[in-house]
Amino acid sequence: MELLDGKSCSQEIRREIANTVAQLKAEGKRAPHLAAILVGDDGASETYVANKVKDCEEVGFDSTVIRLPAATSEDELLAEVDKLNNNSNIDGFIVQLPLPDHIDEHRVTLAIDPYKDVDGFCPANVGNMCLGLPTFVSATPNGIMELLARYKIDTTGKHCVVLGRSNIVGTPMAILMSRNTNPGNCTVTLAHSRTQNLTELCASADILVAAIGRPNFVTADMVKPGAIVIDVGITRVEDSSRASGFKLVGDVDFEAVADKSAYITPVPGGVGPMTRASLMQNTLKAYQR
Ligand code: GUN
Repeated sequence: MELLDGKSCSQEIRREIANTVAQLKAEGKRAPHLAAILVGDDGASETYVANKVKDCEEVGFDSTVIRLPAATSEDELLAEVDKLNNNSNIDGFIVQLPLPDHIDEHRVTLAIDPYKDVDGFCPANVGNMCLGLPTFVSATPNGIMELLARYKIDTTGKHCVVLGRSNIVGTPMAILMSRNTNPGNCTVTLAHSRTQNLTELCASADILVAAIGRPNFVTADMVKPGAIVIDVGITRVEDSSRASGFKLVGDVDFEAVADKSAYITPVPGGVGPMTRASLMQNTLKAYQR
């Protein structure tokens, strides 16, 4: 078994981006600039946005966080989105999800200028991704593809089972793995909560991508010996022995599955850091466009 080390791979990507930014600055150009809108005070969202700011600092990007109260109306949020769309100093921005219940996420996502949509969530970018046209691929699938590429994993002709059909991870992952690219060229099965014979199906996968947000869901009997296992889950589970009061648990029962697999991503230190690095890559791309 070999670990797919997202932590070191993401460090490599951040170093590459930092070198590019240093070069830009040496040429007298401004730095790429990422903005994030954060509505309300959800603890996990606070952490995610703080990490994005930290990543920007590390690679030399400028960053701006726009904090809005939980009671912000949809129209007020749309006005902020509009301001960022029209601010030529901002190359890309994200609206941190989830949003409070009274705000329609879909309307907000639709309002983001596709050229600044570094999350790759808006329909124009999802459509471009489906067609293989230039786009921003959302950060987690992009990070997984990058991880497979950097480890030079041959995916051609393999059976890839993607567990979970979310718009952000499962669905784009299935599309990317089926495309005529490397990594890619897989025969893909997109499995979900209504899928029958899930254990047998997963056990037939050469590549298993678990993205359902259920801690330790994938057990050893669901994994083919020699499979490549990608764990997207990062559920916070209470752990009173830690200062934070929680630990991060993946969708895969790592202890049981690791020895059976050829390659596996750990949690933490696998897909998570690659997701973070992907947002930096997309922001640089937005700047270069
Ligand atoms: N919430 C959890 N992950 C993400 C993400 O990748 N982008 C945004 N905008 N919100 C999130």
